[in-house]
Amino acid sequence: MTDTDNTAPKSHGRKTLRPSLKPRALMEDAQLANTWTAQVITLFPDSFPGVLGQSLTGKALKDGLWQLDAIDLRPFGIGKHRNVDDTPAGGGAGMVLRPDVVGAAIELAQQRAQVPLPLIYLSPRGKPFTQSMAKSLAAGPGVTLLCGRFEGVDERVLEHYGVTEVSLGDYVLTGGEIAAQALLDASVRLIPGVLGNADSAEEESHSNGLLEHPQYTKPADWQGRHIPDVLMSGHHGQIAKWRQEMSEALTKARRPDMWQAALGSKTTD
Ligand SMILES: C[S@@+](CC[C@H](N)C(=O)[O-])C[C@H]1O[C@@H](n2cnc3c(N)ncnc32)[C@H](O)[C@@H]1O
Repeated sequence: MTDTDNTAPKSHGRKTLRPSLKPRALMEDAQLANTWTAQVITLFPDSFPGVLGQSLTGKALKDGLWQLDAIDLRPFGIGKHRNVDDTPAGGGAGMVLRPDVVGAAIELAQQRAQVPLPLIYLSPRGKPFTQSMAKSLAAGPGVTLLCGRFEGVDERVLEHYGVTEVSLGDYVLTGGEIAAQALLDASVRLIPGVLGNADSAEEESHSNGLLEHPQYTKPADWQGRHIPDVLMSGHHGQIAKWRQEMSEALTKARRPDMWQAALGSKTTD
């Protein structure tokens, strides 16, 4: 990989980074210190920032509230064709990302990071991603994400680097990139300053263990359907009570697992 190589890692945000495998250039291209950092190791760096470049997360990226470094896995590939994968040991369908290739990309990511970052492999085998994980990532220095493709990543690389596997849900995606963007979106919006006052995260679904109450806006009458009177009453106490009751009823009906957990935490309070 050279400095002019268009497969070089692509960085987004206020500072343009031109990473290279050369140690001197690596130091010159160090990521910004004290800025929440997302490193994404992927075979498809052009898919970043993707939707993260829009709206609040996009503005925050431009404003330097976080930085994004998409590290292309391909240049770490083996031989003339930069092969990144090989057939599964023991046989079977598909291909597996090689540990030497993925390992070299992780090493580069770790050298480029200003501080150690948690290392996550997006994987349907992982522990389910939650709002509390997003909160804890947002409170830290950032994250390094490894996007799998094909049948996934050689197990040894996950063991060697102590990688945490995180799943976006009980279904199988073609690759980790969409999962990475979802995880980053949920985390970045919780970095202080990213959401405006009007977009407070404190009363949202999952932030207090309950689903959010229904929301309404103008017009007051739409297709013969009216906004509940209490919301038009201007009585803040009654509005808050109605919202809490609706929130509890919705959670009970739609997510009995969450409702049981909420009851449990009430009795231990
Ligand atoms: C086709 S999947 C591989 C699935 C793997 N063979 C398995 O059965 O566990 C390719 C890549 O997509 C990503 N991926 C797929 N489903 C995911 C999910 N539910 N959550 C997070 N990442 C996922 C992972 O990075 C994975 O390596």
